[in-house]
Amino acid sequence: MASSSFSSSATSTVAFFLLAVLMGSSFAQLSTNFYSKTCPKLATTVKKVVQSAVSKEKRMGASLLRLHFHDCFVNGCDGSILLDDASSFTGEKTAGPNSNSVRGFNVIDDIKSEVEDACPGVVSCADIVAIAARDSVVLLGGPGWDVKLGRRDSKTASLSAANSGVIPPPTSTLSNLVSRFQAKGLSTKDMVVLSGSHTIGQARCTIFRTRIYNETNIDASFAKTRQSSCPLTVGSGDNNLAPLDVQTPTVFDNNYYKNLINQKGLLHSDQILYNGGSTDSLVDKYSKDSDSFDSDFAAAMIKMGDISPLTGSSGEIRKNCRKVNS
Ligand code: HEM
Repeated sequence: MASSSFSSSATSTVAFFLLAVLMGSSFAQLSTNFYSKTCPKLATTVKKVVQSAVSKEKRMGASLLRLHFHDCFVNGCDGSILLDDASSFTGEKTAGPNSNSVRGFNVIDDIKSEVEDACPGVVSCADIVAIAARDSVVLLGGPGWDVKLGRRDSKTASLSAANSGVIPPPTSTLSNLVSRFQAKGLSTKDMVVLSGSHTIGQARCTIFRTRIYNETNIDASFAKTRQSSCPLTVGSGDNNLAPLDVQTPTVFDNNYYKNLINQKGLLHSDQILYNGGSTDSLVDKYSKDSDSFDSDFAAAMIKMGDISPLTGSSGEIRKNCRKVNS
């Protein structure tokens, strides 16, 4: 009896691996020790460069975190966002959610060049982005997590996918936010906790103008302060920046949720998470319990980093994160 159940489970294990091999990359898994033999200095190298960039400009930590999000939501975490436009190649950098907005590319280049010196041709740009995002959060006072690795870099990018709304716009309804995250295998809770990223970083006037002049679920004195550096006239002061977290914009803490409860969310898509709807209770919880925010955030970042990676022999390990290998 015991031996027959052993052999049937052994058979199914073999069958599973055969199927995995036949199906190529789709069964391959990321792992936290992927480069432990091939690039043992990876973690310290990335951390050192991120540390130096963030010490020069704290906002860079926020920018590197967002880069990972915008990479993962467009056809998976495959480094596609890093590809430059060229004469015969169109990347994702000019897409609405990215243009004049996403930043941190030079830091990724600096990391890549040090990593290439240490272990040439081994580490993907997509993995570098994932590690840099984690290191940024930690440096700004947030939680850490073990980054799963083994992603490969895409040989393509998709401007149309980047523009298609898969990265939800800040004008989104709550149900759009929920469904855009759900489409990537992320729950409503993941969406609310990952939005807590807006505890760091900045947004442009053009993004929050309508909210600070027209919306009613906003603290009046907060709106007035924001209006002072974001004129009503479209086209004037469009690129003026304001912190997403009015209290501690360079510290990764749970003040974002406290702001929402005080109607001081900067973006429409922030305040909609606490506006009498189904996510109010989560906002309430994270505003009071920073430990659960930290641990749920770390878990959700691992899930986000798992979105459709290229593994096995798919894609490539780019030499230069800005272009595909020739
Ligand atoms: C829930 C849906 C989300 C929407 C609608 C949204 C929208 C935005 C917008 C419009 C900006 C400002 C861009 C600009 O003014 O140029 C921004 C900034 C930012 N977002 Fe989000 N975001 C969302 C989720 C996320 C997630 C999941 C993350 C990370 C995991 C993230 C991280 C950030 C960071 C860190 C910044 C500041 C970047 C900087 O200062 O360079 N956001 N977001």
